Amino acid sequence: MKNDTRPLQTKQTILSGKQANSQFISSKTGLILREETPDDIVAITRVTVAAFMHLKISNQTEHYILHALRKAGALTLSLVAEMDGQVVGHVAFSPVAISDGTEAWFGLGPISVFPGYQRQGIGGALIREGVKRLKAMGAKGCVLVGDPGYYKKHGFRNPPDLIVEGVPPDVFMAMPLAHTVPRGAVTFHEGFLATE
Ligand SMILES: CC(C)(COP(=O)(O)OP(=O)(O)OC[C@H]1O[C@@H](n2cnc3c(N)ncnc32)[C@H](O)[C@@H]1OP(=O)(O)O)[C@@H](O)C(=O)NCCC(=O)NCCS
Repeated sequence: MKNDTRPLQTKQTILSGKQANSQFISSKTGLILREETPDDIVAITRVTVAAFMHLKISNQTEHYILHALRKAGALTLSLVAEMDGQVVGHVAFSPVAISDGTEAWFGLGPISVFPGYQRQGIGGALIREGVKRLKAMGAKGCVLVGDPGYYKKHGFRNPPDLIVEGVPPDVFMAMPLAHTVPRGAVTFHEGFLATE
């Protein structure tokens, strides 16, 4: 997204918790949520490009960001949503650095749902399942840059004591997953700078 991050090199945070790699399956809708496998990468790229293609706030670099995060080993959690036998949604989580030294906080994004599958609850399900798994892995909190109207529905709030340089505070949101809430400047992974 344009002007939303000033990512620098962040150190890889190693989570102590066991990585949950099970499938979430909705018996009502047939939606499956699971971690990405190498076979999903082409489909994730297709979904991401299609979702952001006509978005004015996007530079259409989100699929490059995903490749860069993956290459750097910084895709802490990468969940795909599968429906009708195909990948129709995706969300990524990667480590962020916080200037007060707090560790185990992560950035949510990019998140994409293939246009024909939007507004059916898939994006919300990806967020809920992703945050749940992140917490189970030992994460202490999650941040993102995005539309507050959407993310407030999912428990994210504008954090009083955290900022991202160059990002308007109203679109920077956080969800603490532990008792302590950090103070300072958040830096997203340098993969967010990728343009090719
Ligand atoms: C954002 C996105 C992932 C949401 O996925 P989704 O499956 O459509 O979301 P859900 O079905 O769970 O929720 C849909 C609801 O959120 C709202 N919504 C969707 N995107 C929104 C946005 N950017 N801002 C505010 N509300 C939004 C919809 O209006 C809908 O509400 P309604 O049903 O009351 O009308 C999807 O729309 C998408 O891929 N968009 C293009 C890429 C993008 O914008 N990514 C996020 C960048 S921060």
